[in-house]
Amino acid sequence: MKMRRLTAPLALLLAAIAIPGLGSTRNDDIVTAPHAMVVTAQHLATDVGVKILRAGGNAVDAAVAVGYALAVVHPCCGNIGGGGFMLIHTPKGKDIFLDFREKAPLGATADMFLGADGHPVPGLGTRGYKAVGVPGTVLGLETARMRYGTMSRKALMQPAIELAHKGYVLTPGDARILHFRTDTFRRQPNVAAIFLKKDGQPYAAGDRLRQPELAHTLELISSKGPDAFYKGPIARELVAASKANGGLFTMKDFADYTVGEETPVRCAYRGYDVVSSPPPSSGGTTMCEIFNVLSAFPMGKLGFHSAAGVHYMVEAMRHAYADRNTFLGDPAFVDNPLKRLLSPAQAAFIRRQIKPDRATPSSEVKGQLAPAEGNDTTHYSIVDAHGEAVAVTYTINYYFGNGAIAGDTGFFLNNEMGDFTSEPGVRNSFGLVQGKANAIAPGKRPLSSISPTFVTHNGHIFMVTGSPGGPRIITATLEGIMNVLDYHMDLAHAVNAPRIHHQWLPDVVELEPGALNDKVRMRLEEMGYHFADRDDWGATEAILVRPDGTLEGVNDARRPAGKAEGY
Ligand code: DON
Repeated sequence: MKMRRLTAPLALLLAAIAIPGLGSTRNDDIVTAPHAMVVTAQHLATDVGVKILRAGGNAVDAAVAVGYALAVVHPCCGNIGGGGFMLIHTPKGKDIFLDFREKAPLGATADMFLGADGHPVPGLGTRGYKAVGVPGTVLGLETARMRYGTMSRKALMQPAIELAHKGYVLTPGDARILHFRTDTFRRQPNVAAIFLKKDGQPYAAGDRLRQPELAHTLELISSKGPDAFYKGPIARELVAASKANGGLFTMKDFADYTVGEETPVRCAYRGYDVVSSPPPSSGGTTMCEIFNVLSAFPMGKLGFHSAAGVHYMVEAMRHAYADRNTFLGDPAFVDNPLKRLLSPAQAAFIRRQIKPDRATPSSEVKGQLAPAEGNDTTHYSIVDAHGEAVAVTYTINYYFGNGAIAGDTGFFLNNEMGDFTSEPGVRNSFGLVQGKANAIAPGKRPLSSISPTFVTHNGHIFMVTGSPGGPRIITATLEGIMNVLDYHMDLAHAVNAPRIHHQWLPDVVELEPGALNDKVRMRLEEMGYHFADRDDWGATEAILVRPDGTLEGVNDARRPAGKAEGY
């Protein structure tokens, strides 16, 4: 990954010439604006959000419009066929968490992905119609709009409908993502008709992608509301396709779908408050468990990616992911021991296990709290002129989900059922080894790592962040925050700096290109660490509020089609 350098004085100079009313100013990395900011992984969706804010909509209105727009212009990840979480910070300082995670169909069973030998059949949880959870995005966005928005559904969906009808010109970043699954598109005529050219070739940068079927589906939702999706023609088409392809969907699965509203998870770090996702996301809990451990170590003094700094961070990750994978699940089905996991006693317990100069083998960490019973997603951040902030991460799991589109509905279906534990102790598609708390059950939501997150200071928004990346979502979001609070990086460096990930099992430290220098890596290898070099991952689309109220927005360089824009 290429790191673009920005000097702090240049950033400050540019901030100083941001004249209110004249829109945002920018350099290559940090966009600043006096009033409001939108950062998403696709520039046209960012434009939609800014347009809604300029038209008088609040951050939730913009988030709803962006949610639908990304379903059109970022079809790998933006969606109406999946689910996610929305975190809202109201101008009065209240933090609200909306849960529109997919649910398992009512016909789902704990052993549905196991073969005759009692072990998971590779790919069964992520391929075909059995892999699809009941999508939550449409009811989630509508619930947000009805409870916390101000504008009509029609006004908020119109930009997405236009983009689907008229089409949009693909940037190189858009085309690159489309090419990930050309073979999948080729195997299905109804998918190929939309996502491949007439001659069967993949779309290239500069081509216009039109999605008339999706425009029609969005028009139905716009005029008839979520009932069109959950009780009407769209549900009927999804159920028919599911039945024809070995899936479990019935009309009752859709009619019974509900959106949850929960209290976010919170913790303190370096004098700031971190506000993040509660179960059925593991994000806030895992992140806060790591922050609680690290708050007693002088991370800033140790230095960014120093041997000692990486040692403490990775050990904290190892323990927190062991707890995540063992104890967490859908709160409607299991008791999540959040109080215990987030207690000072738990942080102290973990710190006592960390040896000053040795890696702890993950095999020694397993089940220490109690007997263990056992790319792709997208994030966007919005701040409006009234200090309301919204962080949304939503997903169809893999890039383009399970790769299937039901009939003429025009949208990809998720393969979120793969996030459940098929067999305790056996890796899922992300290598996560999880426990019974996340076993499949009818109507249950699979445990997620999705972590829309705020950092607040005295009740006011300081940062809005989050990321795609499966289990690496949590560490990508955490490290972006540490880069600002511990290492005092500007937002562009914080977002674009190479990342490190450890998730307990497999017992390996994953590295983005350039994450460690040779000396540090050799020192850590001597301490017992094993490394795996990976391509870059995640995309933290982040906003930071300066003390004078100026907003900084940074689109992650890992998503070149994205954009930060404000006014
Ligand atoms: O909810 C989760 O944790 C996963 N389904 C997210 C998947 C994801 O971010 C894939 N991206 N790389």
